[in-house]
Amino acid sequence: MPVHPPAPAARAAVDFDHDSPAHAENWIEIFADLRENNPRPWTERHGGYWVATRHRDLVAISQSPEHFTTHKDFDPATGIATGGNTIPPFPTPRGIPNESESPEWDAVRAFLNPTFSPRAVQQRRDKIRRFAAALIDAVIEKGEFDIVDDLTNPLPALVTMDIFGFPLDEWRPFADGVHRMIYTSKADPAFADTVAWLGPFRDRVDEEIADRRKNPRDDLLSHLANGRMNGSPLTHDQIQTMAFNILTAGVDTTTALSSNALLHLARHPADRQRLIKVPGLMRYAIEEFVRFFGPVQSLARNVRDDHVTNGWDFRKGERVLLSFASANRDPDVFEKPDELIIDRFPNRHVGFGIGMHRCLGSFLARDMIDAMLTEVLTRMPDYRVREDGIRHYPNIAVINGWIHLPATFSPGSKVGARIQ
Ligand code: HEM
Repeated sequence: MPVHPPAPAARAAVDFDHDSPAHAENWIEIFADLRENNPRPWTERHGGYWVATRHRDLVAISQSPEHFTTHKDFDPATGIATGGNTIPPFPTPRGIPNESESPEWDAVRAFLNPTFSPRAVQQRRDKIRRFAAALIDAVIEKGEFDIVDDLTNPLPALVTMDIFGFPLDEWRPFADGVHRMIYTSKADPAFADTVAWLGPFRDRVDEEIADRRKNPRDDLLSHLANGRMNGSPLTHDQIQTMAFNILTAGVDTTTALSSNALLHLARHPADRQRLIKVPGLMRYAIEEFVRFFGPVQSLARNVRDDHVTNGWDFRKGERVLLSFASANRDPDVFEKPDELIIDRFPNRHVGFGIGMHRCLGSFLARDMIDAMLTEVLTRMPDYRVREDGIRHYPNIAVINGWIHLPATFSPGSKVGARIQ
């Protein structure tokens, strides 16, 4: 028998806006209240959207690409974007694979997966460790550093640039551009300007692609320039949209997670000592940090058709916010969800997503986080965060990160590691 959705008036409307400073300050309480009292909330903000806060709903929606898509349209003449995987959409062309759907998505993932596979990450491990050691070398004699500026911001950016094959000294303008775009509220009049970095980035991709067509190397730009997808060379649009997705996905996510983790370990000496004494706990700790801090707070889907999922009456064209951060604190799935339990196991978190759009870079992210945390715990085991100098981003609509985390420690010696 066909199911008839109720009229929109029957929606449980709430005053919810994930793209606001009030949300950034109170997201844990806001989501706890919604999960318990309003499991299918609808908000009129940003053109109207549903908010999936419970683990089971987020999983069901993420695993139903036949009903939900991340498709995005962008008009370069007006700068207006619709759809896509954020609410509201970034005023940029789409990224792929994150804003693609089958069959294109299957081909893109098959093309990219080998570069980010566990084996590829393993082969890169020594280099990632060397980069982390070199960043610590730059500050180790001083006895003070900023966790974000000196370590957790540069390391993922450098590794991402290295995977592409861009000159490493170009990391800063691109990483700074991504930070501004990600963390500026869409309601801020300055938001439109935050995508300005994309022009120079696209130009640099074009230049390097032209070079790799003549001089192929062992890097992602060469693979994009000379590889084949479904038997054909990649189009200009495919190259640009893949490069855009990988840069934006690779940079701030890991920075946010490792910054939160190092702040937690500074504030919780018992957890820090356990990790120093039993390094084997690190892999459980990383999963728990991903669950607890919600580095990627939320992303979105577009409803493809009128249908019912888990009792939600969806209409074609509506939008749904998937809150990974909220699902990861759902008491139906996690015991003591608001406690960070450093050796939590099992840990069915959805911090890297679930379903077809699950994170391409999760193995790489884990390795970078491991390298940064290990380097700090080994060479600065007594580091202390200067609480009076810490600054959180005022908007965490997409990513939950820190601007500054100044810290002090007992100075040590360089190990002579270099970034090259
Ligand atoms: C702690 C670090 C990271 C976290 C928490 C994270 C989280 C996520 C999440 C939640 C998604 C799912 C999106 C969805 O369902 O719509 C995702 C997708 C993605 N991530 Fe990550 N990510 C991290 C690091 C990285 C890194 C280092 C890279 C690459 C350099 C990366 C590349 C991607 C890409 C390309 C996608 C889209 C996959 C697709 O649509 O098929 N991520 N990530």
